[in-house]
Formats: sequence, C-alpha cells, structure tokens
Amino acid sequence: MIFVTGGAGYIGSHTCVELLNAGHEVTVFDNFCNSQREALARVARITGKSVTVIEGDIRDGVALRDALAQCQPQAVIHFAGLKAVGESVEQPLRYYDNNVHGTLTLLQAMAHAGIKTLVFSSSATVYGDPQYLPLTEDHPLSATNPYGRSKLVIEDMLRDLYRSDPTWRMGILRYFNPVGAHASGLIGEDPQGIPNNLLPFVAQVAVGRRPYLNVWGNDYDTPDGTGVRDYIHVVDLALGHLKALERLQKQPECRAINLGTGVGYSVLDMVQAFEKASGKPVPYQVASRRAGDIASCYADPLLAQALLGWRAERDLAAMCSDAWRWQNGNPKGYASD
Ligand code: NAD
Ligand code: UFG
Repeated sequence: MIFVTGGAGYIGSHTCVELLNAGHEVTVFDNFCNSQREALARVARITGKSVTVIEGDIRDGVALRDALAQCQPQAVIHFAGLKAVGESVEQPLRYYDNNVHGTLTLLQAMAHAGIKTLVFSSSATVYGDPQYLPLTEDHPLSATNPYGRSKLVIEDMLRDLYRSDPTWRMGILRYFNPVGAHASGLIGEDPQGIPNNLLPFVAQVAVGRRPYLNVWGNDYDTPDGTGVRDYIHVVDLALGHLKALERLQKQPECRAINLGTGVGYSVLDMVQAFEKASGKPVPYQVASRRAGDIASCYADPLLAQALLGWRAERDLAAMCSDAWRWQNGNPKGYASD
C-alpha cells in the first residue's frame, strides 16, 4: 500500500495510475484545494482498480496519524503542496504554512507510525538562476521566491532528518517542467482560472478558450530569444516515482535526483509543436519579460539513469498530442462532465 498525499492533483493522479498498473494498492490523502474528486474516478476508470480516498489536510496531524495507522503503508509519496510562484510572492505565509508546516506535520506523523520511506516532489526551481547547464544535482541551491524557498526548506529538513536517523529512505525528486496527459485523454492538468504555465495556456488557446498566447519576452540569450525549458511528459515523470520507490526498497538514503529529459525547448518550439499536434493555430504576441523568469533551464538526467534505471521515453510530439487529447475531450477540465 502506497500513501499518496496530493494524489488527486495533476502529477499525483498520473502517478496513481502507474502505481495501480504496477499492482500497488493506493490510498490518496488530499484536501482537494486544487483538484477534483472526479480525477480519481477517472484513475479508477483507466486502471479498472479502485483508489481509497481520505479527504484531509496534511497540516492536520491527528487526521494523518489516524490515516497512517489505518493504512499501514509501506511508503509515502508526497505531492501535496501549493505551487503557484506568483501567488507565493503575494501570500508567503500561506505557502510556508501549507508546504513547510504541512510537510513537517507529515514527517512527524510518519515517524510516529514508524513509516520511514518517502518520495518527495521537489522542483528544478531549487537551482535558482542556473550558473551552468545542464543542471546537475550538485549545482548550488538557491531560491528566488517563497514557493522555491518552501521546497528548499523542505529539502533541508529531509536531509537533517536523515542525518539524525539514517534508517530513513528518502527520494527527493527535482522535477523539471511536467506537461502532457495520460494517453487515454481521461486525466490531465486542470488549472483553475488563468493558467500560469505555458502548455495549459497554449492548449486553451488552441481549443478557443483564449484568443492568443502572451510570449513573455523574446530577448533572452537563447536560440530564438524565448525562454528554454526541459519539458517532461507527466507519464514519464510518474514512472520515475515507481523507480524511486524500487530503489528505496533496497537501501536507506536521502538523495536528490533530477527528473528531466536533458533537452530544452523554447516557447516558440512549443507553440509550433502544439499547432502540429492539434491542427489548430496558436496565435501569439510578444510581451515583456515575466518577473523572476530565467532564460534557460534543463536537466542533466544521467543520475536518474544511473541510480534509478529511468529515463524519459516520450517525445515532444507525444507531450503535445496527449495534452491536446485531454484538452479537446475536456475543454473545461473535469468540470466538462
Ligand atoms: P496540483 O496542485 O495539481 O496537486 C497538488 C495536490 O495537493 C492537489 O490535489 C491539492 O488539492 C493537494 N493539496 C495541496 N495542499 C494540500 C494540503 N494542505 N493537504 C492535502 N492536500 C493538499 O500540483 P501538481 O502539479 O500535481 O504538483 C504536485 C507536486 O509537485 C507539488 O508539490 C508541486 O510543488 C510539485 N511540482 C510541480 C511542478 C509542476 O510544474 N506541476 C513542478 C515541480 C514540482
Ligand atoms: N511562458 C510564456 N507565456 C505564458 C506562460 C509561460 O511565454 O503564458 C514562458 C515562460 O516565460 C517560460 C516558459 O514559457 O519561458 C515556461 O513557463 P512556465 O510558467 O510553464 O514554467 P516555469 O519554468 O516558469 O516554471 C515551472 C513551474 C514552477 C517551477 C519552475 C522551475 O511552474 O513551479 O518550473 O521548476 F518553479
């Protein structure tokens, strides 16, 4: 049994599918602050297996203790968190409370229950403005906003905990830019309001929900002047979690590992690939740079290959066509039903 916090969310729901497909039982613990129950109904539809759902908040230690005592999971995968960079600048205390206090409470409940295996969702944002590329795991860490700092504080907390008790088994997965959707088109990213991230915005332009894309700057030091990122298919990302769990079964450790493809694409590359996948035009206009954005960011994915035997398999065309199948079949996300 794997206990999945935030399992109803975008990456969590895709990981639940892969866990169930691999024969694991799954309990999701989620407060649904940024997700819909329908996502888990779809997970069950895709896999033909059911997920146990506990509605609860990771800041509620009593609820977590009860849930862990009831499930006796072999491991926890911890996705629950708030993730909007701009919002974190406006509401830092809410981010520290939800992400840092929430994770602290989870770790206390796990320690209480004697469950010491954890896979944590970190982010490439902990590398700050890259000093070199591709980013290796030993690149200096820094944060430029409260969201990133919450991830950094949590990473440090995990490392401190491991130092104090090396029987913990902790995988810190640093995601690059997750995109795409399950190939069934039944689950995908369902942002509330105006999407912050590039691909959901592009998908909403292609489906006609928004008139055009704003390209945040074309004067970066990149091949076409627009920002370059390491986009990774969410199903590849999900599979990385299974590999991380397998490794943690073998030995205690606390290690950070990049999950990226190692390939960077620009905003205009993404627009073009999405137009091709969808057969729809994606009109755009160039606007000024978005505060806090960096020019380029991509992973060195070799540690994940060496330690987990994992690498991303799905290419840009699959990322775009899968995102389009989800968007086209669910133009208003889970609310389309
Ligand atoms: P998401 O918002 O779709 O999923 C997060 C889930 O956690 C949601 O279901 C939400 O309801 C739940 N949640 C939030 N706070 C909670 C709380 N206090 N108690 C219980 N449940 C709570 O986000 P996602 O894209 O699936 O991201 C999952 C994790 O990966 C997050 O920790 C995020 O910071 C991290 N991450 C995401 C990205 C990305 O671009 N999507 C990149 C790097 C890291
Ligand atoms: N972009 C646009 N227009 C948009 C949205 C994005 O031009 O409407 C551009 C951005 O300027 C950037 C690229 O598209 O060059 C990707 O932007 P995203 O917002 O999709 O992703 P970011 O790399 O900025 O941020 C993501 C996550 C963060 C995380 C960061 C580092 O959203 O949570 O990766 O891991 F911190």
